[in-house]
Parts: sequence; C-alpha cells; structure tokens
Amino acid sequence: MPVPTLSGQRVVVIGGSSGIGYAVAQAALAEGAQVVIGSSKADKVAAAVARLGNSASGAAVNVREEASLKAFFDGIGAFDHLAFTAGDWDRAQAGPVAELDFAAAAASAEVRFWGALKAVKHGLAHISPTGSVTLTDGVRTHRPGKGMPLASAFGAAIEHLAKGLAVDLAPLRVNAVCPGLVLTEVWKDVPADRVAKMSARLPLPRAGDPADVAQAYIYLMKGGYTTGQVLVVDGGMMLV
Ligand SMILES: NC(=O)c1ccc[n+]([C@@H]2O[C@H](COP(=O)([O-])OP(=O)(O)OC[C@H]3O[C@@H](n4cnc5c(N)ncnc54)[C@H](OP(=O)(O)O)[C@@H]3O)[C@@H](O)[C@H]2O)c1
Repeated sequence: MPVPTLSGQRVVVIGGSSGIGYAVAQAALAEGAQVVIGSSKADKVAAAVARLGNSASGAAVNVREEASLKAFFDGIGAFDHLAFTAGDWDRAQAGPVAELDFAAAAASAEVRFWGALKAVKHGLAHISPTGSVTLTDGVRTHRPGKGMPLASAFGAAIEHLAKGLAVDLAPLRVNAVCPGLVLTEVWKDVPADRVAKMSARLPLPRAGDPADVAQAYIYLMKGGYTTGQVLVVDGGMMLV
C-alpha cells in the first residue's frame, strides 16, 4: 500500500479563519492538499485566505443556518475531508446550576454541536464516501471544572456524535480531536504567567501550539483505518 498523502485532495475547514482551524488549513496545505476554509465573518475569511496563500480559498458560512451551509457546500463541490473547528465563546455554559438560563444554555450548543451536525448533513452531498470528517471538542469533557458541567456534557455529545456517525455513515470515517490548552487568539488577553502556571503541572509543561493540534486532524484525514475515535492532544493533562 502506498504511503497515505493528502496531495491533490480537497480539504474543507469550517472554522479555518483562526486558531486551530487555521493551523489545520496550514498543515493540510503543507501536505499538498487544496484547502477551502469557511467561517461566519467574510472579512476574517478573506484575511486568512490571503495569509494562507498557495491554493487556499474560502467563503463565509454561518453554521447556525442550514441554508448558509447548503450554499457553502454547493459552492465548493466535490471534496475529500471535512475538519470542523468552529466555536463561539459566549459564556452561557458557565456558572452555578441554580442560576442556569436554559434558553441560553441550549443556544450555547448551537455552533459547536448542532453546527457540526448541520455541516455534516450538508457536506454529505459532496464529500467522498472514502473521505473523512473530524469534529472538535475539548479536554473539559474529561476534566470537568467547577461551574462548567455543561462544557463536559456538550463535549461528550460531540465525541459520541463522532462515534455514532462513524457507524451510521460508514465507509465515511468520522473522528474527533480533543485539544487541551491551546494558544489560539482566544487566549491573547490572558497574561503569559497565568498560562504558564496553568500548564506547569503537565507532563509536557507548556501550552499547546495550534500547529501541535493540527497534526491530529491531518492524521485522522490520512489514517484510512481509523474511525469513531477521539484523539486527545493535551500535553498529558488527562494523566495528572
Ligand atoms: N484554544 C483552546 O485552548 C481550545 C481548547 C479545547 C478545545 N478548543 C475547541 O477548539 C475549537 C476551536 O477553538 P479555537 O481556539 O481555534 O477558536 P477560534 O480561534 O475562536 O476559532 C473559532 C473559529 O470558529 C469560527 N466561527 C465561530 N462562530 C461561527 C459560526 N457561527 N459559523 C461559522 N464559523 C464560526 C470563527 O470565525 P468567525 O468569527 O469568522 O465566525 C473561527 O474561525 C472550539 O470548538 C474550541 O472549543 C479550543
């Protein structure tokens, strides 16, 4: 069997205009793939495409809206791999359960969970049956935090969505990446000494770089015998 490669394959990264998704787009380009990125703000997409260069392209897509996803995928046409890294950062999931606002809590799953499933639904018309989908959750799924039970619950929902889809949509492969603390734009206002303190106890005592995590998505695209799995990239946080 030849060594797997992404050369000539088409990779779509929803959430590719910043952070982990941008790093996935960079890594896929380095593997020789043609890359299409999408996210909700057209100006962010255009700026990211300009930075990516090479054969990257992109379009605005709002994963909250099925019509937007349908138009996005219809505009792309046939492709091989979907990486879904879109996430918004409202804080409706955090806080005491006694004060939970259920409408806000439900809405907080709109992008990461329902958006991921809507993307899969509308991507199916164009994705190669021997391609792959990679979803994204986070280490809070397995390391719950005070005031954050919903982050654990919704993360678990994403991991198990990947497992369910892996059976339901086979031979399309479906997996998830579970990142730990990763220094994306989201962390830019957090003081470096606080980040250092948070990561000091890890077996790999530093915050992750988006490029570290991107390699997990690349493996899951290329690893043709891997499906229904969760690849944790957390510097060993799960162990300590
Ligand atoms: N960074 C970490 O430490 C960390 C740790 C664990 C898990 N994660 C998970 O990894 C994922 C990516 O995180 P990140 O740090 O890379 O975040 P990020 O830099 O904020 O990237 C999020 C991406 O999602 C897009 N997006 C947001 N709302 C969208 C919508 N409605 N439709 C389409 N795209 C949308 C954003 O672009 P627009 O603004 O243009 O929409 C952006 O491209 C998230 O699910 C996050 O929970 C991150």
